[in-house]
Amino acid sequence: MSIWKTKTPAQIEEAAEHTQLKKNLTAVDLAALGIGSVVGTGIFVATGQGAQLAGPGVLLSFIIAAVTCGFCALTYSELACMFPVAGSTYSYSYVAFGEVIAWIIGWDLMLEYLVAASAVASGWSTTFIGLIQSAGAKLPKALLTPPITTVDGRIVLSGGIVDVPAIVITMLITWVLYIGIRESAKINNVIVLVKIAVILLFVFLGVRHVSLANLQPMMPFGWKGVMAGAAIIFFAYIGFDAVSTAAEETKNPKKDVPLGLMLCLGVVIVLYVAVAFVLTGIVPYKQIDVGNALPAALGSIGIRWGGALVATGAIIGMISTLLVTLYGQIRIFMVMARDGLLPPAFAKVHPKHQTPHLCTWITGSATALIAGLFPLPMIIDLCNIGTLFAFILVSIGVILLRKTRPEVERKFKTPGVPFTPLITVGFCFYLMASLPRVTWVRFGIWLLAGLAIYFMYGFRHSKLQKAA
Ligand code: ALA
Repeated sequence: MSIWKTKTPAQIEEAAEHTQLKKNLTAVDLAALGIGSVVGTGIFVATGQGAQLAGPGVLLSFIIAAVTCGFCALTYSELACMFPVAGSTYSYSYVAFGEVIAWIIGWDLMLEYLVAASAVASGWSTTFIGLIQSAGAKLPKALLTPPITTVDGRIVLSGGIVDVPAIVITMLITWVLYIGIRESAKINNVIVLVKIAVILLFVFLGVRHVSLANLQPMMPFGWKGVMAGAAIIFFAYIGFDAVSTAAEETKNPKKDVPLGLMLCLGVVIVLYVAVAFVLTGIVPYKQIDVGNALPAALGSIGIRWGGALVATGAIIGMISTLLVTLYGQIRIFMVMARDGLLPPAFAKVHPKHQTPHLCTWITGSATALIAGLFPLPMIIDLCNIGTLFAFILVSIGVILLRKTRPEVERKFKTPGVPFTPLITVGFCFYLMASLPRVTWVRFGIWLLAGLAIYFMYGFRHSKLQKAA
């Protein structure tokens, strides 16, 4: 038995569900899929948090985070097309690095999916509360706020008890996933249009009120501030891997995947930079409402109806992000359970609904608890460090697999290997290094806990080990 045992590409294929997927998606469909899972809490809420760290320079933070994502997307796509199976990075690492690293990645991906879902729920809640309160409703603050908050990185009591709306929305979406409703491409397209429309509305209504005085100084906290902002803003781009994951359903992955990715990232970058410019141009960055950035900004210049409309669109849009992110986590847990690294209950399928019901409820409840009890900036930091770490391993995996598995067909090849993956590693690491030290400590504890669980459970129950 060895913790470094690798799966062969054939074993990965064997474990995959053999559904015959229709190959009918075009590059535009892929881009819509990407935009559907990318645009959410990041732009509607976290922009305000990024602006606290970077000032108006948050505009640059958006560009740096976008460049990082562009590189990540290029490297990730090679693996996604090589092994078009569920389980994402976890499955690829089983071939590239062996079991223990695959487990660490799987454990780490909980930060990218489960914790991201909590962040989306938390951002949904603050936007929803903002909308209700702007209509004059009085709500009990203790039931709208997590019990703790962070001040200059320190954890302090907030006076709240729990964020009830975040819990309610997460459990509702969990129920939807439990009964097996998945978002169809058509609904996704409608939601994508709603999201784009409300962002354009914000820009259109706000741009005439931009005051250049608010945009100066551009970088009140220097380059360090811009990078700290980028490390938070990275969250706004998470989810673009949905494009690579659907590669198998396209007619021509070689052409459609890079085109779809470019389209998705291109549209998103333009929208995001425009939002950052208008937001910091109409409100002095110190006065941005961090829980409800865009609607409150429009309210502050007297366009309350516009704020309400943007909030409504954001609330609808974030629901789809939450659905896709939770679904992704459930799939990863299922694949890990099939490999024996998690208890078999996680892979058990409900006889009527045909969904992994226990896994769905456990995932949903954990997401709800995190969303209800922890402050959004803390959740976003953890999610980002975990996701960046996963992309670093993906990039190394691309280089490694070119050497160890040259024979496997690559429907999409990352250009400029090994340089492109190495640049990706550099960008990801730079962003990770710009996160607060306390986030690194939390991340370290998270990984150590994961390793302990692997040795106590996964190593002993792994199907690959048993087969050997
Ligand atoms: N990028 C996604 C969001 O901003 C996770 O909500």
